[in-house]
Amino acid sequence: MNDFISIGDIDGAKMLELLELARSLKSERSARSDLAGKTVALIFHKPSLRTRVSFEVGVAELGGHPMYVTDAEIKMGQRESTYDIGKVLSRYVHGIMIRTFAHSNCTELADAADVPVINGLTDLLHPCQVMGDVLTCIERGKNPRTMVVAFVGDGNNVANSWVNAAGNLGFEFRVAGPSGYEPDAGLVAAAKAAGANIRVLRDPLEVVGGADVIYTDVWTSMGQEAEATEREAQFRPYQVNDELLSHARGDAIVLHCLPAHRNDEITDSVMDGPQSAVFDQAENRLHAQKAIMVDLIGG
Ligand code: CP
Ligand code: NVA
Repeated sequence: MNDFISIGDIDGAKMLELLELARSLKSERSARSDLAGKTVALIFHKPSLRTRVSFEVGVAELGGHPMYVTDAEIKMGQRESTYDIGKVLSRYVHGIMIRTFAHSNCTELADAADVPVINGLTDLLHPCQVMGDVLTCIERGKNPRTMVVAFVGDGNNVANSWVNAAGNLGFEFRVAGPSGYEPDAGLVAAAKAAGANIRVLRDPLEVVGGADVIYTDVWTSMGQEAEATEREAQFRPYQVNDELLSHARGDAIVLHCLPAHRNDEITDSVMDGPQSAVFDQAENRLHAQKAIMVDLIGG
């Protein structure tokens, strides 16, 4: 593994190996020296709570130095090219995490950089999120190869990384959302061609029936704010509420990558209810990303 851009770039065995490492890092959360003497640059074109803090804490817990870099300062592609930024940063730091808009910003940076690049969310993918999510499913007793995951809402970056994960691990992944808001058709086709069990549907009741994991995310992702009114109208029937949850398995868990728009895509009663695992899920970003950084940048 040279970079961590997409879950689709690794196979199921590698994914489970990283998640096993994440579990062991979580169970023995002591100071380590895997990144001693190393600096990791964290570039942000979009806001963040979880990604920024979990990467900063993760690098520090591994003995390294995290460096937050806002695009307000470096102005990627305006003040200088993405290629030049990748080349220059590689002379200073030992790894780069980037959260950006166009996925090509991330891949161009990775192509230019001589150090590992980690995708901290693009418009297309959110692979670190789904690593933490699958870790949460495993902790809650779900079998990552046979579970049924129902994604209710927007076929966005998070859903697309779930498509990749389903391709790797073989679990059943069902999505329900309005027409025009499906996950990326190319990613779904590629995963299905590799044998993935993915169903793209309309009816939220149909996807949650018998599901082990119910997942939702905001209806309007970062960068889509101009579409918010239209999206709210389209997605209203896809709210994850007590009524919808009553159609899932009694032991189903509810996940949301956060930040949540409470009482839009998910009600307070579900988010704060007994089946919710959302705060474990947020914590698991830290442990999953530490495993990725030990593998890519450590040693
Ligand atoms: N889930 C997630 O990536 O959260 P942030 O946008 O706060 O980083
Ligand atoms: N789909 C959301 C995820 C936030 C972590 C967004 O891109 O804004």
